[in-house]
Amino acid sequence: MNELDSLVTSAQALFAQSATPADLENAKAQFLGKSGRITELMKGMAALSVEEKKSRGAVINVAKQAIEAALNARRQALADAELETQLKAEALDVTLPGRMRMTGGLHPVSLTLERIEAIFGSMGFDVAQGPEIETDWFNFTALNTPQDHPARSMHDTFYVEGGSPEAPNLLRTHTSPMQIRHAVQHVKRYQALMDAGQVMPEIRVIAPGRTYRVDSDATHSPMFHQCEGLWVGENVSFKDLKVVFTDFYRTFFETDDLVLRFRPSFFPFTEPSAEVDIQFASGPLAGRWLEVAGSGEVHPNVIRNMGLDPERYIGFAFGMGTDRLTMLRYGVSDLRLFFDGDIRFLSQFQ
Ligand code: DAH
Repeated sequence: MNELDSLVTSAQALFAQSATPADLENAKAQFLGKSGRITELMKGMAALSVEEKKSRGAVINVAKQAIEAALNARRQALADAELETQLKAEALDVTLPGRMRMTGGLHPVSLTLERIEAIFGSMGFDVAQGPEIETDWFNFTALNTPQDHPARSMHDTFYVEGGSPEAPNLLRTHTSPMQIRHAVQHVKRYQALMDAGQVMPEIRVIAPGRTYRVDSDATHSPMFHQCEGLWVGENVSFKDLKVVFTDFYRTFFETDDLVLRFRPSFFPFTEPSAEVDIQFASGPLAGRWLEVAGSGEVHPNVIRNMGLDPERYIGFAFGMGTDRLTMLRYGVSDLRLFFDGDIRFLSQFQ
């Protein structure tokens, strides 16, 4: 084997041993670099005659090309190997099932609240929202339920920081405080008008929202929802309450085969007071009286706490349990299902 052949062989061997592109470039420098073996051989031709240069040059060139070919082949092999490792590391199993994007939906109780707002909205009622942390005044005292009133015992709740030691702030036990809050705002808004001898525009409002009590079983949850209603003017009577309620429940349940019963009751903030029962003529609940709301003519003391003269202004109020309505509408027998957050239950309402 002549000198050039063995040079090519040793280059090929060195390239084959190079495990990384950097090793390979170092190996290349030994042959093709500025002071590499091939370069040195070229330089060594300087003293040769023109004829000799031609033949010697041609032979060196053949060796140089062979080395370059070996270099390129090894470069390619290393690049292929690197790609192969990368592909293995980042392997994707395209046969795995995709990740589904779930569409959300409204909670059944929210659907009921929307429905209630739409129906009362069509009867000219505004919708008001208020705080869930209430003061003793708005939740009880302003509603004619002073400290030590026995009716307070039915509204055991969760007390929070704030207020006074005798009357701490609390999680509201009903939406009724919104009667006072909304009426006071309303009166403030129209005070100038009234001072000028004009009639106050009627208060006609509903206030849906979360309420709290220390209560927990299949039909009671410590957090539940109510919708308050208030209609106050100079000439609003129990008759209007009956009309509004009958219309509301028939629209809500999409049936005229439904009757209402007003059962005498007691609430400190209304006089007279009534509980409202409904009865379906057909369907799974036919013939049973179902309690759906409390109601009554707003008590004069409450009218006074709204900033109005009870000799002039009169009206009715009501409070309905909206979770109960949702259970009736969808035929759900356990209230707790609404608040467990089980997607299998909730997705049925979408
Ligand atoms: N707030 C009462 C409760 O939670 C319900 C109620 C009764 C509201 C009569 C009213 C009403 O506005 O007039 O038990």
